Amino acid sequence: MIQPFKLGYVVLKVQDLPKVSEYYEFVMGCTLQEVSEDGSRYYSVGNEHYSIILKEARESELSTFSFQIEEDISLSEAQRILKQHGIESDLVTDHEHYLAEALRFQDVDGYTVELFHRMDSNKSGYKREGIAPIKLGHIALGSLHPERATKFYQEVLNFSFTDRIGDKATFLTCNTDHHVLNISNFGERMLHHIAFELIDSSHHVRSADCLAQKDIATFWGPARHTAGHNLASYHHDPEKNVIELYTDMDYYIKQLNMFEARPWHLDNPQIPKIWDHNCVWQTEFEKTILAGVLEKKQWKEEEKA
Ligand SMILES: [Fe+2]
Repeated sequence: MIQPFKLGYVVLKVQDLPKVSEYYEFVMGCTLQEVSEDGSRYYSVGNEHYSIILKEARESELSTFSFQIEEDISLSEAQRILKQHGIESDLVTDHEHYLAEALRFQDVDGYTVELFHRMDSNKSGYKREGIAPIKLGHIALGSLHPERATKFYQEVLNFSFTDRIGDKATFLTCNTDHHVLNISNFGERMLHHIAFELIDSSHHVRSADCLAQKDIATFWGPARHTAGHNLASYHHDPEKNVIELYTDMDYYIKQLNMFEARPWHLDNPQIPKIWDHNCVWQTEFEKTILAGVLEKKQWKEEEKA
């Protein structure tokens, strides 16, 4: 059984590497760990040697995301399991440092996914300047085949279903966080957002001040979501990738298929369900966040012109 337990690194292709690097290093407060021969920059958030990789490219887009998987099966065995489900994969060793081997494949939507066992973490990446989140927590993907994609991550990669918002988004987890992966349905195959966890709500305030000092708009929140109950805010990186900052995410107890009780829960017990709206505080979410996500498309068209 292939069992992920953690979101690994996310690789972003970027057009203006210096500008985007400045954001991840000095606004987000990630630590630059490595610069590879081709100029790609490896950033750490916490213990991992890297969580964000920026690669210069002609087109700005999500390149790859990854999951760390349990070591009770080898990557070769994982490869065989994927093949049984009709998915071809490659064992790759082309990561620059600190990652011996990864298993690379394309998911239902053609996103490149990598599975790995261990990454060295002998240099702490945690910084105390900029926003300095405590971890890279989840990734949300626009899917053109949301039902197939959800089925794949549940049945092949053993993710648990934790909530759904109408037909707009399905939330999946492979650990105790309410979601590690979010499959979004808005008619586009593109990154919806990547999310970094903060320490607490006061960290949200400090982060909003930090963004304001850099003239970066927070376009939604902080406000509390329904699915996950995370207190979340959203802004853009320099190439219009949507970045979520969050805290207070629901803690999932797989054995009980429920979430640890929290004062802000309106259900008791809080269990996975289908929600019809997105914000506990009834802040209008759908239009604002989707407009923010789709700004990336407009930005790319303007860059091409
Ligand atoms: Fe999110």
